[in-house]
Amino acid sequence: MNDFEIDVIQGLSHSPKFLPCKYLYDEKGSDLFEQICETKDYYVTRADLELHQTKLPEISQLIGPHAHIIEFGSGAGTKTQQLLSSLTEPRAYTPIEISPTALALSVETLQSIFPDLSIIPLEADYTQDIDPDDLRLDPPARRRVVYFPGSTIGNFTREEARGFLTRMGKIAQQNGAVLVGVDLIKPIPELLRAYDDDEGITERFNKNLLVRLKEELGAELDLDAFKHEARFNSELNRIEMHLVATKPTSIRVAQHHFHLAAGETIHTESSHKYTIEDFQALAKEAGLIAERVWLDEGARFSMHYLVPDPSKGRLNQ
Ligand SMILES: C[S@@+](CC[C@H](N)C(=O)[O-])C[C@H]1O[C@@H](n2cnc3c(N)ncnc32)[C@H](O)[C@@H]1O
Repeated sequence: MNDFEIDVIQGLSHSPKFLPCKYLYDEKGSDLFEQICETKDYYVTRADLELHQTKLPEISQLIGPHAHIIEFGSGAGTKTQQLLSSLTEPRAYTPIEISPTALALSVETLQSIFPDLSIIPLEADYTQDIDPDDLRLDPPARRRVVYFPGSTIGNFTREEARGFLTRMGKIAQQNGAVLVGVDLIKPIPELLRAYDDDEGITERFNKNLLVRLKEELGAELDLDAFKHEARFNSELNRIEMHLVATKPTSIRVAQHHFHLAAGETIHTESSHKYTIEDFQALAKEAGLIAERVWLDEGARFSMHYLVPDPSKGRLNQ
């Protein structure tokens, strides 16, 4: 039994049912995500790109020369290209990516644009421990910057995000920094539209997970018995993506049978939204000091430059 099958059986056995969002990103899912970024309703990528375009001179000044950029979930590497272009003589770039296809494509593109840059790709799940040897440079870089753009940090619960920020701080080490994108709280209709676009691409992205169950695990299920739904959970300040059973139906994976009543859902992704103050408080709990924050012009999206708090002692990774 592989990890995917174990996680699917565990998630569907849980009440309420869920599937881990990392499985949304196979080759097809990564491609659909890139298409979502192009839709008029998904403001996140546009706001993040605008922020990159306007604030990178300041960001790169703070980072300084000869930095080792370590990116979590690099995807197509579009923003990375902008960041690397703005930096003075970056020492090395390590993309950490779960999708081998996305990783190979982005490395090929970036290496052709930056032929002299040392690119050290790491095909790995960033929610698991990273072997420190995979990040070590000889001689070490002047500074490590853990780069996590987009709003992926929002996929974690608050507790998970705190733990994740702590790990990123350890990887950055005492002289380093964490550069992380965070989506901001805004009116609910705008949020719901972003996660349920008119063109139905987010629906295909979400349902692709069921296609993976069929194709990769030989699961028996009725694709037409599910619809995509985006919900706002006001208690937890998050958008949730669900696959809702439109009629009583069942899913068989290996020897396991899971029954769903009409209206029952499988929770597939969360995207938590923050205020600036709230996120900075969370970073502080993770031992990181908020040194700078930048917003796009419409104040829809934020980018935080966090540095390890020296009073928290030595950090190793
Ligand atoms: C939403 S995309 C963001 C891509 C890019 N960083 C950006 O901001 O445009 C998330 C990327 O993270 C990758 N990813 C998701 N979960 C991951 C995990 N647990 N470990 C490593 N990569 C992961 C996906 O394959 C995808 O390429």
